[in-house]
Amino acid sequence: MSESSNPALRFGVLGAANIARQFIAGVAPSALAAIHGVASRDATKGESFARETGVARHYGSYEEMLADPEVEAVYNPLPNSLHAPWSIRAAEAGKHVLCEKPLALDAHEAHAMFDAARANGVVLREAYPYMAQPQTVAMRRLLAEGAVGRPQYVQATIGFSLADPANVRFDPALGGGAVLDAGSYPVSLVRIALGRAPARVSAVARFHGPGVDRTLLGTLDFADGTLAQVACSFRSGNHRHALIAGDDGVLETTFMNHLRGGPLHLQLKRGKASTAPSETIDEGGGDGFQLEAESFVRLVRGDAAAWTGATEAESVDIAATIDALRRSAARDGAWTEVSG
Ligand SMILES: NC(=O)c1ccc[n+]([C@@H]2O[C@H](COP(=O)([O-])OP(=O)(O)OC[C@H]3O[C@@H](n4cnc5c(N)ncnc54)[C@H](OP(=O)(O)O)[C@@H]3O)[C@@H](O)[C@H]2O)c1
Repeated sequence: MSESSNPALRFGVLGAANIARQFIAGVAPSALAAIHGVASRDATKGESFARETGVARHYGSYEEMLADPEVEAVYNPLPNSLHAPWSIRAAEAGKHVLCEKPLALDAHEAHAMFDAARANGVVLREAYPYMAQPQTVAMRRLLAEGAVGRPQYVQATIGFSLADPANVRFDPALGGGAVLDAGSYPVSLVRIALGRAPARVSAVARFHGPGVDRTLLGTLDFADGTLAQVACSFRSGNHRHALIAGDDGVLETTFMNHLRGGPLHLQLKRGKASTAPSETIDEGGGDGFQLEAESFVRLVRGDAAAWTGATEAESVDIAATIDALRRSAARDGAWTEVSG
């Protein structure tokens, strides 16, 4: 059966989350994925969310949606501390799971989630729409081809301004904090650029409250001598930028989530010379949420090579690295081992 003659994979959405609006809109034009229903803890909220987003079904509890045999896959955009428990429950209900970043609060949780997926014969992956975009696919390919030589260091930074004190990102019980939320992007970028986890990290942070960092700067030290720096903030102008400096070239990217009308940005300077020209790599674009969902559907249907996002090993390393950065920041920058 050809891909287009397969019925679309039916997703259920856990929670009326802001990001779910973008996921639902991104998936809408897809022939491979469809949003079957949305679940909210509050039936009235679920109903109005379904109406606003044009989704046919709504459920008054997460349990009700997981019990629906017509739901084949679950998109989990719950607050960070609920990623593990609800992804595990979804897997136990026999649903494939596309879970928002950060997949887990630490490597232990990440392993438990993948174990649950394996035990129930379903697929679990962490959602990073920027990884599904052609520019990131091209970045991975260029680095693997040695376009910048051997990477010596990576710098990756992200920031935006978060004003509302009621935002879930400020709640320690819900896995709040800049490094868990925003920092998962630069940490993930470093992981996919360098292909392994750091051996140890050191991080200094400024805190919003106990256990919730609002700005964090971290150094990642790799066993082979490679270095990386990550920065993230809830109190800065909006930016997202990464630089991968190799011994024979430099690559720069904005690792944007999805287009939002803006240009893709991936610049490559090959060679060591200051006069080396800077090439703009233009691989076209697309909505990261649609590309990610379609790549996930192909993976679920057995085409492992079609998955462009984080692998299981990458997600475990990202969780382990973020956890180590948090533990280091709590001890004012003390070197902390990363254990996956
Ligand atoms: N990939 C990306 O580009 C991207 C971008 C932004 C955010 N994210 C990730 O997506 C997730 C959600 O972010 P968001 O900004 O969309 O969050 P949000 O708007 O605050 O939504 C979170 C939803 O979780 C549900 N929920 C369940 N228990 C809750 C509790 N105790 N407190 C608050 N809400 C609870 C609520 O839905 P009901 O009340 O309807 O049950 C709520 O609408 C986070 O993990 C974040 O890191 C990813």
